[in-house]
Amino acid sequence: MSALFPVYPRLDLELASGHGAYVKTTSGRTILDLYGGHAVTPLGHGHRELADALNAAYRTLDFYSNSLHMPIQEQAAEAVLEGQSHLSRVHFVNSGTEANESALHLARRVTGRTTVVSLSNGFHGRTLASLSATGIQGYRDRLSVPVPESWSRRIDFGSPDLSAIDETVAAVILESVPSLGGVFMPPKGWYREIAKRCEKVGALLIVDEVQGGVGRLGTWFGHELLGVQPDIVTLAKSLGSGFPVGAMVTTEALAQAVGFGELGTTFGGGPMACTMVAKTAQIIRRDGLMERNVELFERIRKGLSGLEGVTVRGAGALIGVETPMPAGELRAALLERDILIGVSGHGHTARLLPPYILTDEQIDHFVQVAGEVLDA
Ligand SMILES: Cc1ncc(COP(=O)(O)O)c(C=O)c1O
Repeated sequence: MSALFPVYPRLDLELASGHGAYVKTTSGRTILDLYGGHAVTPLGHGHRELADALNAAYRTLDFYSNSLHMPIQEQAAEAVLEGQSHLSRVHFVNSGTEANESALHLARRVTGRTTVVSLSNGFHGRTLASLSATGIQGYRDRLSVPVPESWSRRIDFGSPDLSAIDETVAAVILESVPSLGGVFMPPKGWYREIAKRCEKVGALLIVDEVQGGVGRLGTWFGHELLGVQPDIVTLAKSLGSGFPVGAMVTTEALAQAVGFGELGTTFGGGPMACTMVAKTAQIIRRDGLMERNVELFERIRKGLSGLEGVTVRGAGALIGVETPMPAGELRAALLERDILIGVSGHGHTARLLPPYILTDEQIDHFVQVAGEVLDA
């Protein structure tokens, strides 16, 4: 009997270690990790430079809270903002849902409005404000208390009808690419229409890049790919290469609109987390891994393109593979062959969220094995 709380439907795999794009089980199997530690390990597992940096950070200053100044926090924030002009302020938190809670709180405080509009296939986390803005019904049904109707409104993904975004709306929140919802790319120009509508009615635009940010889509921020200029961006997952850290990134004007004590957390922006943020960003840029993600996507797309009934969607290292086989079956068949992938909320769409360091040989191995499984 496990002593752990039973809320996760776990795969029958017990992990002992991870190295690069592979994980090892306690029974000695070596598995190619195309689920990337749940979209959290952009540089693969056990990256030497990150290990050294984290070790040094702990020895230098293990922890202090936001009750004083620490240069590493400024360095991490500058690394997040490098090359940006519109976005200029970072608030560090501990997870994706907390970044979204902060963003939604900020939007509601600043506009004085309550309603948040989200997309029907969006996922934003499991705490109250994030979950109430989550579009996927199965998740919203798990709200612990009924939330007032005025809290949230949804628009169907891709719908030209944007009338739900009116003068009562504090913010629209959307993922750069809805991932759990099945990795559907927004129709060309649609996000721009939403942004225009937000501007017209005085609502803020929040882009949730908890999965799509930190270079995953081939651009540092996912929204760069989609041609919109959000008021707030949220990050987590890859941001700390496995060290729990999230961030709310916003404009100078919005940062100036809140007062001391409006947002806060003990652990957010601790020195170890910030070290991992700064180092992860530095390595991604130094090693050209955003450009590599563009190639990675193309190689997988081309590799699978000859397979009957298979569609590849997404961008960079956020890849949806729709197949005639249910995604759960495909995942099980690949796992038997020592490849780990993810599923999604769309029954026939599997998700690949690989580390950005995946080699051509590893990609080709996946393509070959997936071909054998899907052609069988
Ligand atoms: C797009 C998106 N937003 C928010 C979250 C919530 O992040 P966390 O699990 O770190 O709270 C997730 C997690 O999968 C996500 O994919």
